Amino acid sequence: MLIAGNWKMNLKYEDIINFKDIIFDFKLDNRVEMAIFPQFPLLYFAKKNLSDHNIKIGAQACSAHLKGAYTGDVSVEIISDIGCKYCLVGHSERREFHNETNDFVKKASTLLLTKNIVPIICVGESLEIRNKKVTNQFIKNQIRECVPDKISSNLIIAYEPLWAIGTGIIPNYEEIFNIHNVILNELSYIENLKVIYGGSVNNENCSKIFELKTVHGALIGGSSLKFKDFLAIYKSAVKQII
Ligand code: PGA
Repeated sequence: MLIAGNWKMNLKYEDIINFKDIIFDFKLDNRVEMAIFPQFPLLYFAKKNLSDHNIKIGAQACSAHLKGAYTGDVSVEIISDIGCKYCLVGHSERREFHNETNDFVKKASTLLLTKNIVPIICVGESLEIRNKKVTNQFIKNQIRECVPDKISSNLIIAYEPLWAIGTGIIPNYEEIFNIHNVILNELSYIENLKVIYGGSVNNENCSKIFELKTVHGALIGGSSLKFKDFLAIYKSAVKQII
């Protein structure tokens, strides 16, 4: 399982130190990985301070170009040099505010794989799609257009319904189970594929989510900023495995 904290454009250097203090006595279970995704300038500092605790670091986005005149973008090379294990690609906020398309997601994910960084490709339907009852087809299309060709391992899909992000509302557990199942079937040729759920995960709903056999972890926004909640969610994932 993977418990991933997407800090988005929140938290600062001092919060990494606070987090380090809080996890000082916290025992990670080697069957459940913990990863955090801070803002770019914090990545190196986070890596330096947290890797002794076996916490993995990930970037929130990357360029789909290797290098060059792309002001403000960050290359997969730098993300790799910093020692990131993961990179989010096509998060709905990037799709909305930075025009990241399925085509972009595929290109960026392909580049990440060349540097041995595991892409976490975010997919999810809008409320409109959901109301039309075409979610499964929509997700299948997203997957087909976003997943790199000839990939055989090293991929995570984060299923994040747009209407669940930051709203406190989540799909019912059967829906989560089923959509994850659709994704797993669609990508059954990928070894060790993980499908994690994101969108308003908190320490009240997480245990029921982790009970679902098709869920391999969570991508957590708001609740990852409250470190006690984040650790409670992590513990709940560990309990599920035992
Ligand atoms: P949330 O965000 O947990 O605050 O809903 C999840 C995400 O956007 O990855």
